[in-house]
Amino acid sequence: MKSLSPSPVVLGLIGLGTVGSGFLKLLLKEQKLLERRLGFPLHLKSIADRRIGSKSGSDLNGIHLTPDPNEIVEDPEVQIVIELIGGIEPARSILLESIRKRKSVVTANKALLALHGEELFSAVHASKTDLAFEGAVGGGIPILRSLREGIGGNRILSIKGIINGTSNYILTRMNYDHLDFASALEDAQALGYAEADPSLDIDGMDAAHKLAILGTLSFGAPIEFSAIPVQGIREIQTIDIEFGRELGYVLKLLGIAKDHGHSIDLRVHPAFLPEESLLAKVDGVFNAVEVTGDALGPVLFYGRGAGADPTATAVMGDVMELARAIHTGCFHQVPPLGFSWNERKPRPMTGLADIRSEYYLRFMAHDQPGTLSYLSGVLGDHGISIESVIQKGRQKGGSVPVVIQTHTATEASIQAALRAIDHSAHVTEPTVLIRVEGKTE
Ligand code: HSE
Repeated sequence: MKSLSPSPVVLGLIGLGTVGSGFLKLLLKEQKLLERRLGFPLHLKSIADRRIGSKSGSDLNGIHLTPDPNEIVEDPEVQIVIELIGGIEPARSILLESIRKRKSVVTANKALLALHGEELFSAVHASKTDLAFEGAVGGGIPILRSLREGIGGNRILSIKGIINGTSNYILTRMNYDHLDFASALEDAQALGYAEADPSLDIDGMDAAHKLAILGTLSFGAPIEFSAIPVQGIREIQTIDIEFGRELGYVLKLLGIAKDHGHSIDLRVHPAFLPEESLLAKVDGVFNAVEVTGDALGPVLFYGRGAGADPTATAVMGDVMELARAIHTGCFHQVPPLGFSWNERKPRPMTGLADIRSEYYLRFMAHDQPGTLSYLSGVLGDHGISIESVIQKGRQKGGSVPVVIQTHTATEASIQAALRAIDHSAHVTEPTVLIRVEGKTE
């Protein structure tokens, strides 16, 4: 007697842009492999994309095409809705309506999750469906699944992530090729790494969206996105990258999350890293996330953080996980946010003024007797101890850079010292401050 073949899990794909096309390509290419791994087939029934327009109703390898996402959301046969259109609306409504209809949903939409995650996950909890989102952070790097499962037995002490490839490419060019920021950005745009409007990437928001997701999975706490301090790389000058190199550092845009016990500290800003650290060696558009667990110690995830194939790989992993749940009827074996819903608890956020770090400070000072003793005197008055000083060059009548690296200090004391110095007649420009993530607390 011939055994019945297992019934397929039915998918609907919304959004046929870069990632959506990558997902479709992977699905068509690896259908046999996927079935061997899953033990049942995946059937992509429909694709919705507004650009389909005139081709509405037509057929692609037996897949129904439509410009209207509601055709997928309303289709009772579709079990998993894959949202890859990005942006807040209509993505938010599409996901909420799909969840309300008790479909499982997959998205790679980091902005939506960072800003409206609680609303979406609360709907998922109420309807007992599933939401998976590995593609939202680090492209193809399986960091979220690792936080939820592989490292789930540890308290997460800290995360340091290079989670924006565009910024990392720009800083890499500034570092190795001595380009200024504007030329490095132009180069990134010419190569298609940076958008025509690059602000989301270079001003740190894209990294902050990803950090909010990493933070909520790490600490079991809802994260108020607007409470995350965010500073991008727009103001970075090549001279500081070069002084940093003399001190043994490499500049990176970091997403940082730390558990201080009484509070959690999440922030995005450029930071100097010791040149011998693994993160400092992550160049170009690559991403890397260093997680430190209390028992495990540090572990580094490295790979392609964007692009069609890497992100489609993450989306496919999610589809497979949710399809297995549908096939077996065992939903929420692993809670989507890594903690049981009722066990998630708000945590106070550390204010930027309360962080402790080492600091790189570049003063533009008048080259005259007493300036260095003035600068070190003000820092000393604020309880800030100096680790090293670089002063070079003499410019008649002009100002010269004086670089001071401090030992660990609180941000509040550094800011108070800089307010005094920047109002004095000893300097000609506002001081440049860059945090050093070396021996930090
Ligand atoms: N724009 C992002 C980056 C990729 O530059 O890393 C998508 O998350």
